[in-house]
Amino acid sequence: MIEQINNLLEEVKGLTAANAEELEALRLKYLSKKGIINALMAQFREVPAEQKREVGVRLNELKNAIQEQFNALKDTLSNKDEELCDIDLTRTSYPTRLGTRHPLSIVKNEIVDIFSRLGFSIADGVEVEDDWHVFSSMNFAEDHPARDMQDTFFIESHPDIILRTHTSSVQSRVMETSKPPIRIIAPGRVYRNEAISYRAHCFFHQLEGLYIDKNVSFTDLKQVLLLFAQEMFGTNTKIRLRPSYFPFTEPSAEMDISCNICGGKGCPFCKGTGWVEILGCGMVDPNVLELCGIDSKEYSGYAFGMGIERITNLKYQVKDLRLFSENDVRFLKLFENAN
Ligand code: DAH
Repeated sequence: MIEQINNLLEEVKGLTAANAEELEALRLKYLSKKGIINALMAQFREVPAEQKREVGVRLNELKNAIQEQFNALKDTLSNKDEELCDIDLTRTSYPTRLGTRHPLSIVKNEIVDIFSRLGFSIADGVEVEDDWHVFSSMNFAEDHPARDMQDTFFIESHPDIILRTHTSSVQSRVMETSKPPIRIIAPGRVYRNEAISYRAHCFFHQLEGLYIDKNVSFTDLKQVLLLFAQEMFGTNTKIRLRPSYFPFTEPSAEMDISCNICGGKGCPFCKGTGWVEILGCGMVDPNVLELCGIDSKEYSGYAFGMGIERITNLKYQVKDLRLFSENDVRFLKLFENAN
């Protein structure tokens, strides 16, 4: 009998009850009139006198152990019930607050979308660049003012390593690793050593375009940019190209669109001219092609670059550039329905 009691003591330690029914089943099995404990009590009467003491002590231990285990399981179950009672299952949940896409992302995605439909794929460069990709390969003369510390952030211990000042650096990154035809756009962040104000920032975003193939002409460039302007700002948008200068394009131009705020009539935004500048562009200078390992007698190309903040200002009239990097939710929420 001692052995039977010992086995039961072991068994009791592992008893569990997941709900009231299981608990009741345990009670019936061990503690009820017809349960195991009572059956053992009946057997106890038959135990020879000299063993009674030892068996009695063990039997009591078992009885207590079962009762304790039963009480503990009962407590756990009733606590669970109370926890459940605290939750009001009929209450409506708190509304989920979704974040909004950043206005610069919205506009960038829109630009990327337009050029993707025209067959351009996305290329990536690096923000911490070397002088070669940002300046030298882009045909900047050794003494060009843009290389000056006034404009460019240098990495102190490495005078050759800088934060890129424009996404044109991706042009040479792509040209040195792929062969024409090349048709890419490269959106990304750029850095310039400017004092922060409502109209200037030390970092901002650009999107570069590059197309290189046989017989690419200025007409191709103009047509693609017209298409872009009309997709972005509406089909009535006009463009005009003004001669300009960039080291990496020849000829170079700046493109204006008819002011999308006054429709070209003249307003404070376009300073009464009816036109607003949106990008720089031109035919890739043959020097650049050669520096990047492309035969300029066989291939020609065009390039363009625009500021994403500038395009966003035109679309949404954000007057203070600093708003783009402050991440004030009151500002960001204004674009909730824009994406
Ligand atoms: N990289 C120029 C800038 O940062 C923008 C630019 C102008 C890019 C003309 C071009 C281009 O590709 O052809 O101001």
